[in-house]
Amino acid sequence: MKVLTVFGTRPEAIKMAPLVQALAADPSVRHVTCVTGQHRQMLDQVLGVFAIRPEHDLDLMKCGQDLAYLTTAVLDGVGRVLQLERPDWLVVQGDTTTAFAAALAGFYRHVPVAHVEAGLRTHNPMSPWPEEMNRRLVASLASLHCAPTQLAADNLSREAIPTDRIVVTGNTVIDALRWTAAQPEADAALAALLTRHAPALLHTDQRLLLVTLHRRENLGERLRSICEGLRLLARRDDLRIAFPVHLNPQVRAVVDAVLLDIPTVHLLPPLAYLPFVALMRRCALIVTDSGGIQEEAAGLGKPVLVARDATERQEAIDAGTAELAGTDGPHIARRCARLLDDPVAYARMAQATDAFGDGRAAPRIVAELKARWARARSE
Ligand code: UD1
Ligand code: UDP
Repeated sequence: MKVLTVFGTRPEAIKMAPLVQALAADPSVRHVTCVTGQHRQMLDQVLGVFAIRPEHDLDLMKCGQDLAYLTTAVLDGVGRVLQLERPDWLVVQGDTTTAFAAALAGFYRHVPVAHVEAGLRTHNPMSPWPEEMNRRLVASLASLHCAPTQLAADNLSREAIPTDRIVVTGNTVIDALRWTAAQPEADAALAALLTRHAPALLHTDQRLLLVTLHRRENLGERLRSICEGLRLLARRDDLRIAFPVHLNPQVRAVVDAVLLDIPTVHLLPPLAYLPFVALMRRCALIVTDSGGIQEEAAGLGKPVLVARDATERQEAIDAGTAELAGTDGPHIARRCARLLDDPVAYARMAQATDAFGDGRAAPRIVAELKARWARARSE
């Protein structure tokens, strides 16, 4: 059985890494990796951590790339790789433009598509944008839907996806998180990074608020409002804010305009995965619009305020580790202050949950790919 995995951004790489490792370790599988390079530096950081050396690198990223460029470039580039490699499975992950356009390329070339992290839904096509539409489109193109949770599987069933094509596997991000948390050098990597970029965070008794923001639908005024909320919080003398800033220039411009030169706010470059996981473990609280961080924080028992109007990670809300805080900065600041000042409210949220998986999603997905391939051959 020959499997082609395709991914292009930081979160896809983190969530595909356990699967790439499991496929590479299986002697009965021929495995080829193609990265689209939708992200460059942020993708390369992950390839380095997991020692992934892709056979194909489409190297597509352009500064300020738009969705039409990305879609057509991925469709064309992955199509060529499919023609060359002729795999039995094409595996894509999540809801990026890489995932959608690669799945379409697979469909055009009659290669069965397996979708990892299938079935997440907010049921609002504009939030997150364009991801909610991307994952719906991948669902209509895929032959195998690896749903991370029962809730995600139920979403797919409601869309009339045949139940025998859906399998609940857990989310591979928990596999990646557990692997990373077990690496002894994670804390040293964080210390080295802070020494360089934020020495004040090295030996401080103040609590740490970790922030990441990047969603396209928040760019502009919503992002500005969230940052203004952080500026209010930065007045507290018992708190420091660590904010690794996404490389999208539209993110950087707003973040710099509102938060640069505030002594208690530490704007950092995107962190490699090992120090980032160490920073998540170290912080008291997270404000983010990221999808993956909602899942990781739930696994680590870190309270998360989700700076969005909708989340497809309802499991974290149900488990009590995440709260949907919207994008109004002063409101987010009040919700943070409540958690920082009310130990009971904080303790209620700071509970680790395995709602997103048990860390064994990747071997389940490999077993499923093999079983279905063997069955198709014998028919
Ligand atoms: C993309 C995904 C989003 C995912 C996010 C994770 C789409 C439409 N969006 O959004 O689903 O949540 O990645 O971070 O698929 N840039 C760099 N270096 C990098 C990465 C980005 O300079 O390593 C800059 C470039 O100027 C690039 C811009 O960021 O043009 C935007 O990148 P893009 O992948 O288009 O969108 P994201 O907002 O990162
Ligand atoms: N992450 C990282 N370094 C950072 C910020 C995030 O390694 O500086 C990781 C994080 O742990 C998570 C993933 O990147 O696994 C989330 O990526 P992002 O927020 O860019 O995308 P999303 O999950 O929203 O699609």
